[in-house]
This record gives sequence, structure tokens and C-alpha cells, in this order.
Amino acid sequence: MVRKIDHIGMAVRSLEQGLAFYQALGLACDGRETVASQQVEVAFVTVGDSRVELLEPTGPESPIARFLEKRGEGIHHICLQVDDIEAHLQQLREAGVRLINSKPVLGAGGCRVAFVHPASASGVLVELSQPGSSGDAE
Ligand code: CO
Repeated sequence: MVRKIDHIGMAVRSLEQGLAFYQALGLACDGRETVASQQVEVAFVTVGDSRVELLEPTGPESPIARFLEKRGEGIHHICLQVDDIEAHLQQLREAGVRLINSKPVLGAGGCRVAFVHPASASGVLVELSQPGSSGDAE
């Protein structure tokens, strides 16, 4: 089952500067961490039932560094929370959907994540995320 839009990912050059806007709205950052698999440092801001994920590259080889170079700051991906990522990847493969990750990788908050190619999703990079065994993703 696809549960909800877990978060919207924004590519930023600086987490501090990116967070300033949300702090001006009275929203707080409720988690920062480095995600090695994506070479990014991320900051989450909870917005009601969903979240905004700000992504700052930690090195020039990061997909976010390449995104910033090509397109500048902005919306990078949307993330759908699923309860069984393997089953969803299989379902998408059978539907002929182009996947970037054929197998889940470790994402922020101990989630298992996989990305769907924008070519198969109306030009939008889509992340599927299954919360880790510790419960809901943070
Ligand atoms: Co994300």
C-alpha cells in the first residue's frame, strides 16, 4: 500500500539558508543527518502529516551537486511512503516502469528507499520509502 506523500525533497546549496525560510514560518528543523548512499546532508521539517527534506551535497560526486549545477536550487523529488518496497518495485517492473534503483538502498532515518526514473513519472523523480523496523521514519 502507498500510504502518503512522506516528504518533498529540495536541493539546496546550504541547509542553514534553506531552513531560514521554514523557520520564518515558525516551523522547526526536527532532524539532521548525513546519508552516505546519496552523499548528502539532510534536514527535515515537519509540515502537518508530511515533511520537507532539504538536501545539501557533501561532495562534488553527489547527485545533488550535479542537480544544483544543472538546474540550480529547487524541488528535487517527491517521496511516497510504502509498506512493502520490494513488492512495489516488483509491481513497477512488471508495469514496465524505469527504475533507478532495482533494489532498496539505505536512506535517511533508517528507511529503505529506491528511486523511480523521471522518464516514467511525468518528469518527476519519485522516491519510494519504507520506514525502518524502528517504526515511523523521522
Ligand atoms: Co527523500
